[in-house]
Amino acid sequence: MILAKNSVERYTFNMNSKICVIGSSNIDQIAYTQNIPSDGETLFGDSFQMGFGGKGANQAVMAGLLGADVYMITCLGDDVYKEMTITNYQANNVNTDHVQLVRGSSGVAPIWVDSTGQNRIIVIPGANNEIDAQKAISSMTEIGNISVLVGQCEIPMEVNHQVFEFAKGNSITTIFNPAPARKLEKDFLEHVTWLIPNENEFELISSMEPNDENFLRFKKEIPCNLIVTLGEKGAVLVGDDKTHHFSAPTVDAVDTTGAGDSFIGTFAYELSESNSPEECIKKAIQKASQSVTKKGTQSSYS
Ligand code: RIB
Repeated sequence: MILAKNSVERYTFNMNSKICVIGSSNIDQIAYTQNIPSDGETLFGDSFQMGFGGKGANQAVMAGLLGADVYMITCLGDDVYKEMTITNYQANNVNTDHVQLVRGSSGVAPIWVDSTGQNRIIVIPGANNEIDAQKAISSMTEIGNISVLVGQCEIPMEVNHQVFEFAKGNSITTIFNPAPARKLEKDFLEHVTWLIPNENEFELISSMEPNDENFLRFKKEIPCNLIVTLGEKGAVLVGDDKTHHFSAPTVDAVDTTGAGDSFIGTFAYELSESNSPEECIKKAIQKASQSVTKKGTQSSYS
């Protein structure tokens, strides 16, 4: 165990602990192709798949599939995607009593996946940008006894800020996945227990190259715990003066979309079960590695 004692004390949860995810719901429109087109070029792709996505949604569904008592706070539009998204959450053991609804379109994400399984994603947030912080806080009060709150950057940061501040004030352990990457205010990080970026996100939020020396340097600048996910290289838990690397199994990757989200959803679930951070990371790597061997986002989770 390489974490400060005060951060360890937050891991004792009640039985039947609740996880709340606040974040995005998108419809993923995935094109599989050997090569990514260059400027002005038209190419034939191999196949197309539409499915449920959004970083928040993926994280909630992963936790739900693992058997967590998970509540989703998200915002959907009044389009054809609304009902199917709600049905999908329910089918994956995610409570939808606190889904917010607005006029207009739900979030969508056109995605390209190349022959190596790597993806390029454009998110059009739609209703995700309309989520209401006060309603979210009322929802959290109504849900009650939340052990773990999970958030990401696909909803407005002002909303994350208010909700995470409320969580901190109510002794809720919080996990923030800064994806897609954006600079984070120091006072927001005061409300975060676990910050979990991937290497690219680390580079953007810290303005440092992703390597051990810089992980340790950045850890000293922030008031929370830090894990950096490293894709096929696993993940690193960054302590105050040493790093602990966890490797990933070698697998044949066909689609990496949503692998990071399956890591976060699994980590949240394992943490809510009072497992050690090291154990949580190992389980999260296992699930993320499994997910890249199948096509699709949530459809690659099990
Ligand atoms: O992390 C993968 C997710 O990013 C996709 O599901 C897409 O919707 C975007 O949110």
